[in-house]
Amino acid sequence: MLVIDRIAKRFANGYEALSQVSLSLRAGEILAVVGASGCGKSTLLRLVAGLETPSAGVILLDGERLSGPSPRIGVVFQEPRLMPWLKLVSNVAFGLPRRLPKAERMRLARAALARVGLARFEDALPKTLSGGMAQRAAIARALVTRPPVLLLDEPFSALDALTRQALQEELLRLWAEDRPTMVLVTHDLDEALYLADRVVVLGGHPGRVRLELEVSLPRPRPRDGTALAALRERLFAELPHGPVELAA
Ligand SMILES: Nc1ncnc2c1ncn2[C@@H]1O[C@H](COP(=O)(O)OP(=O)(O)O)[C@@H](O)[C@H]1O
Ligand SMILES: [Mg+2]
Repeated sequence: MLVIDRIAKRFANGYEALSQVSLSLRAGEILAVVGASGCGKSTLLRLVAGLETPSAGVILLDGERLSGPSPRIGVVFQEPRLMPWLKLVSNVAFGLPRRLPKAERMRLARAALARVGLARFEDALPKTLSGGMAQRAAIARALVTRPPVLLLDEPFSALDALTRQALQEELLRLWAEDRPTMVLVTHDLDEALYLADRVVVLGGHPGRVRLELEVSLPRPRPRDGTALAALRERLFAELPHGPVELAA
C-alpha cells in the first residue's frame, strides 16, 4: 500500500543521510523504525510525509507517486506543535482542508478531540494542558481527516513512563477503529515490539535497513512476556553501540 523504493537523501550540504532504503507496507500494518540517533529515522519519515524530497528513488501510495504533503498522510512529531494562541478545537481543525465550510471543520475537529478523550477541552488553550494531553491533541489533528497513513516520529518520548504507556494503548485503540497504515519512529525497543507488526532497524552512515523483524504476536501483548524479550535481544544485537547511543 505504501512503497518506499530505493530512497536516498543527500542534503544541500552534501551529507548523505539515507541510501538505498526500500520498504513495503501492507494496508493497516504498523511498522516501527528504530536505530541509533542520527541514522536517518526522522529524515525517512519526513520524506514519506512529503516534507523533504528524495535525492533518488520514489515513494508510492496505492501505486501513486507522492510529491509533497498529502491529506492522505497524517503526521505526529515528538513535540505537539500546537499553536499557543488557538483553542484546541481550532488547532485540530488546522489539519483539515480550508475549502471545507468553517462549521464543518469545527464539527470534525470536535469529533476528533472526542476520539482522543479531549471532548471537554475543546476551548482550552494549549498551555493549560499536560504533555500527554497536548500529544493527544496532536494525534487528533493528524487523524482529523481520517488519513489512511499515519506517521509518528518519537511521539511519546518526551512523556513520563505511565503517560507513555497510556498513549500507546490509546494509539492501538485508535488504530483498531480505522486501521491506518502506520510508521512509528521510536528509540524505545519495548515500544516498537509492543506496538508494531514489524520492526526495521536503520543504521550506518548513510542509513540503510540493517534488519527487518516480524512481530507475529497477537494483541494485546504482555509487556513483560518472554516472546518479546527474545525479539528484543535480536534487535539489540543489531544496534551497533548499545543503549548509550540509542538514547535520543
Ligand atoms: N537539513 C539537513 N541538512 C543537513 N543534514 C541534516 C539535515 N537534517 C538532518 N541532517 C543530518 O542527517 C542525519 C540524520 O538525521 P535524522 O534523520 O534527524 O536522524 P534520527 O532521526 O535518526 O536521529 C543526521 O546526521 C543529521 O545531522
Ligand atoms: Mg529523529
